[in-house]
Amino acid sequence: MSFVETQVPRKVRKAVLPVAGLGTRVLPGTKTTPKELLNVVDRPILSYIVEEAREAGIEHIVFVTGRSKGAIEDYFDHQIELEAQLEAKGKTDILAQMNSELARAGEMSFTRQMRPLGLGHAIWCARDVVGDEPFAVLLPDVIVDARPGALSQLIEVYGREGGNVIGVEAVPEAETHKYGIIDPAGEAQGRTRRMKGMVEKPAAGTAPSTLAISGRYVLQPEIFSILETQERGAGGEIQLTDAMARLMKSQPFTAVQYEGATHDCGDKIGLLRANVALALKRADLGVAARRAIEEALAAR
Ligand code: G1P
Repeated sequence: MSFVETQVPRKVRKAVLPVAGLGTRVLPGTKTTPKELLNVVDRPILSYIVEEAREAGIEHIVFVTGRSKGAIEDYFDHQIELEAQLEAKGKTDILAQMNSELARAGEMSFTRQMRPLGLGHAIWCARDVVGDEPFAVLLPDVIVDARPGALSQLIEVYGREGGNVIGVEAVPEAETHKYGIIDPAGEAQGRTRRMKGMVEKPAAGTAPSTLAISGRYVLQPEIFSILETQERGAGGEIQLTDAMARLMKSQPFTAVQYEGATHDCGDKIGLLRANVALALKRADLGVAARRAIEEALAAR
């Protein structure tokens, strides 16, 4: 497809969720439970991510899974015995919530990344399921607490700008080595800016900015043929950032500093912070959560 054709924004119907990661930063909790199914307050991280995708109008979710991730597929299916017991006990609220999370018929596909070769390779594993259309990527380590959701904000920009749209957030200079960092071109237009480059996990002192790729993307399908020939980069892995930097030579990329709070739940403190922040905001739990936190602090 030519550059001009990619300028006409086609609807973003599909989202890829790479869920093959091992969750080494939160072991041993992730030894037998996929990290994406760790609870934040009272539902799995993945439940927040799927909610964000659906809210953004995504019709089909492609999970790129790995070994020991079978529970993810089960989470979105019926649990007949449990449902029958909840029904018998009249626990209709939780039953309704569980039903709302079930996969709609044909809404979800599961494909496997059989070796941990990197995020770029994981996305490439979804190429045949996505096909020749623009698609979203949501990294399931990251919960973005935002209204509208972060992906909705990206898709709104995509509707105006076309091309590829990447969610970014400002990070301290000392932390740029942990992320993909973008090289912005020119001044910001509100919350968006054009990009002229990006680099995965730059060495200290070499980052082109302090704007980090945070885990939300709208990409054109041409990324797949680039990923096919992508060499290993940072950490010896096939990096999505490196492939995007190559695609940028022929297609525009826009960065969006979406409104909202980003929680990296793949990390011990990030997971704790997400639990605290989201519990404090809950109408049914906020007061009790605040009291529990204050009591814990006072007891130190
Ligand atoms: C991945 C991406 C990186 C991005 C980060 C956000 O890195 O490769 O560009 O900034 O997610 O969390 P990872 O955290 O998997 O090393």
